[in-house]
Amino acid sequence: MLEKYQVVVIGGGPGGYVCAIRLSQLGYKTACIDHNDTLGGTCLNVGCIPSKSLLNLSEKFHNAKNLSEKGIEIGEIRLNLEKMMKNKEKAVSTLTKGVEFLLKKNKVFIIKGHASFKDVNKILITDKNKNEKTIETEKTVICSGSEPISLPKVNFDEKRILSSTGALSLKSVPKKMVIIGAGYIGLEMGSVWSRLGSEIHIIEFLDHITPGMDSEISKEFLKILQKQGLKFHLENKVESVRNTSKEVIVKVSNKEGKKEDIECDVVLVSVGRKPNTEKLNLEKIGVKLDNKKRIKVDKKYQTNVKNIFAIGDVIEGPMLAHKAEDEGIAVAEIIDGQAGHVNYDVIPGVIYTSPEVATVGKTEEQLKKDNINYKVGKFSLMANSRAKTINETDGFVKILADAKTDKVLGVHIISSNSGELIAEMALAMEFGASSEDIARTCHAHPTFSEALKESALAVDKRAIHS
Ligand code: NAI
Repeated sequence: MLEKYQVVVIGGGPGGYVCAIRLSQLGYKTACIDHNDTLGGTCLNVGCIPSKSLLNLSEKFHNAKNLSEKGIEIGEIRLNLEKMMKNKEKAVSTLTKGVEFLLKKNKVFIIKGHASFKDVNKILITDKNKNEKTIETEKTVICSGSEPISLPKVNFDEKRILSSTGALSLKSVPKKMVIIGAGYIGLEMGSVWSRLGSEIHIIEFLDHITPGMDSEISKEFLKILQKQGLKFHLENKVESVRNTSKEVIVKVSNKEGKKEDIECDVVLVSVGRKPNTEKLNLEKIGVKLDNKKRIKVDKKYQTNVKNIFAIGDVIEGPMLAHKAEDEGIAVAEIIDGQAGHVNYDVIPGVIYTSPEVATVGKTEEQLKKDNINYKVGKFSLMANSRAKTINETDGFVKILADAKTDKVLGVHIISSNSGELIAEMALAMEFGASSEDIARTCHAHPTFSEALKESALAVDKRAIHS
C-alpha cells in the first residue's frame, strides 16, 4: 500500500512550506517534500536570511570603526570573521528548525528526499542514500524554487568562482573581489565585503544598475554606492573568467571594444537565477514550460495538467520570497475552492544595502510606457529631521500618483529603514489610497516616515519642509 496524500507540495522554501501549512489548516492531508537536510529553501539557507545577518553585522563593524568621530571612543575595532559566520549560521539554523517545528505543529508530513513525477498521481522520492519510495497524491503544488546561473564556460567552485552561496561563506576577507552583475545579489554582497575590507569591482552589462527599477532611484543609488567606495564598470561585457588557482583573471570589454584584464582573489557571478524545473520529470506528465523554462500556469496557478499547480520562482514574476509566500497561501485557498488572490501591482521589493532601497508599484518609466498621466512628489532625506539627527541623510522618497484621481501608483524610496517604510505604502496602495490620504495621515515626529508624508504633500507642491 502506498502512502496517500490529498496534496503534495514539492519544495520546502517560503512558497512551499507556507502553502503546506495553509493546506493543512484547511484540513487537507498534506506532505511537503524537500531534498535539503534543512527546510526553508534558498531564502533561509543560502539567501535572504544569511545575507541579512552578514549585512547587519558588516554594517555594525563599519559603523563601529567610524564612531570615534562622533564622540564614542571604543579602541581598536577588529574583525573575527569566523565568529561572524558562526552567528550567521546560528540564525539560519534557528530559523530552519523553526520551519520544521511549524510544519509539525500544523500536522504537515515532512518527507526528505528528491521528488520526481512517475505519473500525475504518483511521486517518486529518492533520499540521500538513494533509497526510493513512491507516494500517491490527488493534487501537487510544485514550488521547487530556483538556482544561480553562471556565464558560459564559467563553473562555480565556490572557492574562487562564487555564486551567492559561496559569497556567504568565505573563510577570509578577499583583498579584491570582482562581481559580475549589478542586481540585488551583487549589490548586497558587494556591500558586505566592501565594509569588511575588500576592494569591490562590479561589472555590469547595462549602462545602469538594478534593471527594472525607477531610473531616478537607480541613478541616485549608484552615486551613493560609488561614494561608499564600490567601483562600477558599466556597459562592460565579460569575455572570460580564468582561474589560475592563485588568482582569477576577469577579461572585460567596454562598449568601444577595449579589453581589460581585472585580477582578483575571488569573483562572484550574480547574473540571475533559473527555475528548478529540470529534474522533476515534468516531460513524463506533460507539464508545459515557457521559453525561460518556467512552468506555465493560469490565473489559478494550475498548469496545463489538471491537479498540478505551480508557484514561486518556478513560475513567471519576481523571484522574491514574499511573492512565493503569498502565492502559496493563494493556491492553497484556490485548491480549497476559495478565491485565493495575489495583487501583482503591489509586491514590494527591497535591497538591504545601506541605505536600503525599497519600491512598490509602477516606476515612472512604466507609467510613461503605459501612457498614464501622473504627478510626482519627491522629498529628500536631507530635509528629514530624524535623518539629520542620526547622520543618515542619503536618499529620497518619490511618490507617483494618477494625475486625475490622485490614486498612488508607485512609491520608490532610498533611505535608512525603507524596507520597513515601504509596508505603509503597500498597505496604502492595497486600500486604493490617494496621495492626499497619505498627506493627511498623522506621522510621528521625528521619524523617517515623515518623509513619506512630505513626499505625498509634494505631489501637489505643498511640502512643508523643502
Ligand atoms: P538580478 O536579475 O537582480 O541582476 C542581475 C544583473 O546582472 C543585472 O543587472 C544584469 O543586467 C546583469 N548581467 C546579466 N548578465 C551579465 C553579464 N554577462 N555581464 C555583466 N552583467 C550581467 O539577479 P541577481 O542579483 O543574481 O538576483 C537573482 C534573484 O534573486 C533576483 O530575482 C532577485 O530578485 C532575488 N534576490 C532578491 C533579494 C532581495 O529581495 N533583497 C536579494 C537577493 C536576490
